[in-house]
Amino acid sequence: MDLNGKHIVLGLTGGVACYKAAYLCRLLVKEGAEVQVVMTEAAAQFITPVTMQALSNRTVYVSQWDAREPNNMAHINLSREADAILVAPASADFMAKLLHGRADDLLSLMCLARPVERVALLLAPAMNREMWAHPATQRNVTQLRADGAQVLGVGEGDQACGETGDGRMLEPEELLQDLIAHFQPQVLTGRRVLISAGPTFEAIDPVRGITNLSSGKMGFALARAARDAGAQVTLVAGPVNLGGPRGVRRINVRSALDMDAACRAQADQADVFIATAAVADWRPASAKTQKIKKHGGGQLPSLSFVENPDILAAIAASERARSGALYCVGFAAESQDLEAQATAKRLRKGVPLLVGNIGPATFGQDDNALLLIDAQGTLEMPRNSKQALARMLVAEIAKRLPVPGVA
Ligand code: CTP
Repeated sequence: MDLNGKHIVLGLTGGVACYKAAYLCRLLVKEGAEVQVVMTEAAAQFITPVTMQALSNRTVYVSQWDAREPNNMAHINLSREADAILVAPASADFMAKLLHGRADDLLSLMCLARPVERVALLLAPAMNREMWAHPATQRNVTQLRADGAQVLGVGEGDQACGETGDGRMLEPEELLQDLIAHFQPQVLTGRRVLISAGPTFEAIDPVRGITNLSSGKMGFALARAARDAGAQVTLVAGPVNLGGPRGVRRINVRSALDMDAACRAQADQADVFIATAAVADWRPASAKTQKIKKHGGGQLPSLSFVENPDILAAIAASERARSGALYCVGFAAESQDLEAQATAKRLRKGVPLLVGNIGPATFGQDDNALLLIDAQGTLEMPRNSKQALARMLVAEIAKRLPVPGVA
């Protein structure tokens, strides 16, 4: 659980999006966080403290005159316990108030009283599109960021007022991801990471093709982990059934040739290339433009194949990779003799780091076990969720990157 042991103050201010805060609270608790809800009186017009108490399993604070705290200083006590304060929804009025350092209710008082260096303040704005676009709000967002608050994005779409546009609060799952990202070590800040993921699809005719069982989950988990670690991530994805990940530039491709072209075009602007894709080794020599018909009588179509380009090997042999400007990481899906096969594959592909796994044991699953192989030796990562492994792998890759500015 990514928020295990974290104390989160979940602040609610007045807005229809309070209904989403109930589900967000649940997600935070499920992820292991201890959640203390603090609501403004305006928020209590939209959702009751009773609901939030039941979901967070803690009594909710609304008033700065709440006498439950022995020293009567809830704003100090709650903000000292917190690892982060997440205000969701953050109304336009509340942001304007924070900007001026005003503190006339418990939540704003607590935001002002928090130890700025230690307790992060994340704001999830929610308002009508005109209010969001208004220069006053945009000015406040800029100033709040300069003052050290993390103002998260807004969603786009239908609004409760009946209008459509920017200003909706992000969805609870998105806010959860942003909060988890906030706690990750920023080991890839300033790095540009390119990742290939998923299977490829090699057409036989307009309705048939050859593909494989790769789900893309490991590559997507790595894209998220790299983004959470501060990298700018481009994900070249074959045909997969996965959404997101947030904050990642995604380029969808189908065949190995498409993937090859997309990866080569992006590799020039990358500092790291991680090839997790299960690229088809061969493609039909010529894809038919019309569906191949069954003629009956046991007459079978014949297929001949040509080899696909080896994307990783070609990029690893490029000038930038050989000079150390681009760090290449390969994956090896084997069915047996993992260490021997992966060691040989690392040399064959010409990459500094190769990550081995047993293909049939991992395809489509949410967990995996990895074996890292570099020139120094091997490192085993025992079975864990793909997301946890991805975070560990990102940390290992970061350790191996050249320090910027040092030759
Ligand atoms: N790879 C690639 N382009 C290909 C084939 C593989 O970029 N045409 C990359 C994969 O993304 C992976 C690594 O090379 O990072 C190894 O892939 P794998 O399929 O295990 O290796 P192959 O070279 O196909 O070897 P084999 O199938 O013989 O084990």
